[in-house]
Amino acid sequence: MAVTILAIESSCDDTSVAIIRDGYVLSNLIANQDVHMLYGGVVPELASRAHQANIVPVTHQAMLKAGVIAEEIDAVAFTRGPGLLGSLLVGTSFSKGFALARNIPLIEVNHLQAHVLAHFILEKDGNKRLPSFPFLCLLVSGGHTRIIILKSQLEMEVIGNTIDDAAGEAFDKCGKVMGFPYPAGPLIDKLASEGNINAFRFAKPHVKGLDFSFSGLKTSFLYFLRDKLKEDPDFVEHNKADLCASLQQTIISILIGKVVNASLKTGIREIGIAGGVSANSGLRNEMRKEAEKRNWNLFIPEFRYTTDNAAMIGITGYFKYLRGEFSDHDVTPLARY
Ligand code: KG4
Ligand code: ZN
Repeated sequence: MAVTILAIESSCDDTSVAIIRDGYVLSNLIANQDVHMLYGGVVPELASRAHQANIVPVTHQAMLKAGVIAEEIDAVAFTRGPGLLGSLLVGTSFSKGFALARNIPLIEVNHLQAHVLAHFILEKDGNKRLPSFPFLCLLVSGGHTRIIILKSQLEMEVIGNTIDDAAGEAFDKCGKVMGFPYPAGPLIDKLASEGNINAFRFAKPHVKGLDFSFSGLKTSFLYFLRDKLKEDPDFVEHNKADLCASLQQTIISILIGKVVNASLKTGIREIGIAGGVSANSGLRNEMRKEAEKRNWNLFIPEFRYTTDNAAMIGITGYFKYLRGEFSDHDVTPLARY
């Protein structure tokens, strides 16, 4: 019999609801919260209020789009963490209420695991290649930068992690210094395509093993700009594209260098990228080049499954449903999972 999952994602500033049937996406809606742009970052209190306003209408629309009624839903999967506590609380409470009212199982999902499992989302009109195991995945988002080995859909091992900022934070914080709105990653990506990657040099960190560090890059970018702005107050405006291209290239080469090391160390050549920063066109292109050179079997997610979305929560929930991994109703959200 078909298994239909209602999936809820509310870990940060996007309210997303998806309906997944047997691993296939029937709908995946996202309500973005523009309010944070004014503040240069996500304001937790505003985010949770916006989730409260959005969650019922977005769920309603997702069900309409999927052509699914409440009686057809077999389980509710929701993001338990990591994320902003107030935001997670809205999704968790709503999911509990829905599951309780329908008397169906509740399934907690780890947001980071879900980003990686986005590679397993199926679509009716697609003939998708799926990774085989072990699968080595670079997870790069606004809050996390990790290298993960997936031994099966639900067995993960973290073999590299950032010791300070995430790659997405490096994009966003450097963008903020240049006066860009939050999140700056997509704009830097766009401007970088018109710039010279060798125009400026920024120091790369030396971190042992497979771990990352991005806080030094942010500081060196800040000091570099401070000096240049003394000579030319419009330095950013005059060099926007080159600044973005050089910064982006530095971040990409840090990321890819570690993935190459991870692949050499583990012998795994089944490689993927996931998370918001995996939408970056420079990273996607460089990964393709590296894959060709090193004979990797490369998996690049579709754009709509890179940044936060509920389809990835739904596919993870589906795998947990098949294993009977359900949560009790006293489950609480976790800011750190
Ligand atoms: O995965 P995500 O939506 O949320 C978290 O779980 O953190 O990732 C958001 C991050 C932000 O830092 C944003 O600037 C970055 O992903 N991002 C990008 C691009 N699109 C989103 N960074 C670089 N290039 C992009 N095209
Ligand atoms: Zn995320």
